[in-house]
Amino acid sequence: MELFEAIQTRRTVRNFTGAPVTCEDLEKIVDAGRLAASGVNYQPWEFIAVTEPDLLRSLRVQEEHWSKSAGAVIAVVMNPESRWWIEDASAAVQNMLLACRALGYGACWYEGYTLRNEEAFKTVLGIPDNRRLFTLVAVGVPAVEPIQEKKSLNEVLHWQRYTPKNEA
Ligand SMILES: Cc1cc2nc3c(=O)[nH]c(=O)nc-3n(C[C@H](O)[C@H](O)[C@H](O)COP(=O)(O)O)c2cc1C
Repeated sequence: MELFEAIQTRRTVRNFTGAPVTCEDLEKIVDAGRLAASGVNYQPWEFIAVTEPDLLRSLRVQEEHWSKSAGAVIAVVMNPESRWWIEDASAAVQNMLLACRALGYGACWYEGYTLRNEEAFKTVLGIPDNRRLFTLVAVGVPAVEPIQEKKSLNEVLHWQRYTPKNEA
């Protein structure tokens, strides 16, 4: 899929068919993440690709659709010594979401969910104390193609200077 088509059509997917995600595709997805822009090029990231059903189950703390049906989860592990670790992590995740879309997978950036359970998930995944678990990204074959409305270009783009828009 061409880049702009992936950008235009990517939407968060939380319902998957349960079909697996191949290791080859997970490598391509993580490769897209590790190539993201990074403050002073510090690249303070590591990634854990989780495909084992028992481990996937351990990352489930409540009844969430994804945890029963995602083929894989990518854990984004960051070194918080970098001044820009959150920005870098976000850039990496967005690259991975687009890579998922381009490969025909759906994905969800589960940061709120991960933050609430960070310490427990770090233990499950063996992540050391001096690293942060920024987010889990669930990946799978979409069971649905969600529609999520977006603001139009006209609503958000200003030329040359900021001019107030008429708010509805
Ligand atoms: C920083 C951040 C945290 C998010 N955390 C969660 C989460 O914990 N659970 C969830 O279901 N979706 C989460 N999402 C996905 C958003 O809900 C989703 O991106 C948003 O509704 C826009 O929809 P779209 O991705 O289809 O454009 C998160 C997204 C971002 C960028």
